[in-house]
Amino acid sequence: MSSRAHSAKLIARPVDRLAGRVRAPGDKSVSHRALMFGALALGETTVRGLLEAEDVLATAAALRQLGATVTREPAAGLWRIRGFGVGGAREPADVLELGNSGTSARLLSGILASHPFTSFLTGDTSLRRRPMQRVIEPLSLMGARFESRAGGRLPLAVIGTDEMVPVEYRLPVASAQVKSAILLAGLNTAGETTVIEPEATRDHTERLLRHFGAEVREASAEPGGKRITVVGWPELTGRDVTVPGDPSSAAFAVVAAAIRPGSDVTVEGVGINPLRTGLFETLREMGADIAFENAGERSGEPVADIRVRGGRLEGVEVPADRAPRMIDEYPILAAAAACARGPTRLLGLGELRAKESDRLAGVSAGLRANGVAHETGADWLIVHGAGGPPPGGGLVETHLDHRIAMAFLVLGLGARDPVAVDDASPIDTSFPGFASLMNTLGASIGPEAA
Ligand code: S3P
Repeated sequence: MSSRAHSAKLIARPVDRLAGRVRAPGDKSVSHRALMFGALALGETTVRGLLEAEDVLATAAALRQLGATVTREPAAGLWRIRGFGVGGAREPADVLELGNSGTSARLLSGILASHPFTSFLTGDTSLRRRPMQRVIEPLSLMGARFESRAGGRLPLAVIGTDEMVPVEYRLPVASAQVKSAILLAGLNTAGETTVIEPEATRDHTERLLRHFGAEVREASAEPGGKRITVVGWPELTGRDVTVPGDPSSAAFAVVAAAIRPGSDVTVEGVGINPLRTGLFETLREMGADIAFENAGERSGEPVADIRVRGGRLEGVEVPADRAPRMIDEYPILAAAAACARGPTRLLGLGELRAKESDRLAGVSAGLRANGVAHETGADWLIVHGAGGPPPGGGLVETHLDHRIAMAFLVLGLGARDPVAVDDASPIDTSFPGFASLMNTLGASIGPEAA
């Protein structure tokens, strides 16, 4: 978690083409929620396909501190949760240490706010820099109190109350984490709690809460958003959950194949919730050959195998209103854009500055280190693609950001010279086994000495 033994340099060497079939790791967003909602339910929840990565394990550890029983059956990779029920968490005996995980910090704040005790949250240097005011404000309106460092940063004390009042809250930023924190607080609040989002964000909380028996209503809201209402004090009951593969993790194999002509890669069982598929839509507009095969469903989420065949990509304009549907995919899209012909314009990127690192600055620095021409502003990026392999040859600083690390390693597979990242250890927060999975497809990612 925050105390990794050492930082690990990794290097990706150019490859000709990638081929094969792999299974994406479990979806991070759904994995956090499956554990949390299992804890808020009575009876037993089982979870298959849980993402066993540092961020999700931080949520599991926190839920144990709150009184849930969370266990893994070693042989089957099956997780079992015995919940404490809505409003039934106990005061944690120690600080909740959440590592790198913003989703844990925001969503748990929503749960803790409606309990009549004080809890303390902290995390690694990346998480302690991230804005929490966005959850502090609505949860304070509902009656909880908070003590934080300057600027609403962790460590954070959540001074909860069991007398929360329902609110109708319009999100100032499109954020599924903030929406979810409010809805989770609303579960333990008498009456109806409503969140209005200006633009629709990932709806895993809404789908999975319904799966556990909550009443969640949705209506459309201007301009492209939704009005979501949760009815307080539902009886959530333990359920079986099967987690879809993570489209944000699949994205790395998909782009690696898309930028290497002659590649043919299939990533199996990937979640294709329409509020997560902005990258695949954009790659298709760039000319990528991407097919969704064997479509199905897992616990209320659509899934498919994603087959991508490599070819030539063209620069495109990615409109600002697509950002919520691909918010975590801009670093890897920038790698694709570096190989495309002509400029790719990425707009509406303000939220990238509030992620595990300032991703706009990190992407720009990584592109610069690898000789990729680009321009950047407060919330936009224009990448001038090489129309083939960009120079590469750079060393990229990852700033405790897993997606920066993986995106630039993928760039190295499609560049003229190898690309190195200074610290690949954050990859374990979301995608343990990333390098070996990519290498089974023919990639060449390893330590420098290899
Ligand atoms: C997430 C929502 C997004 C995303 C994050 C996971 C979630 O954050 O970047 O990786 O699970 O709800 P925001 O809600 O802050 O945009």
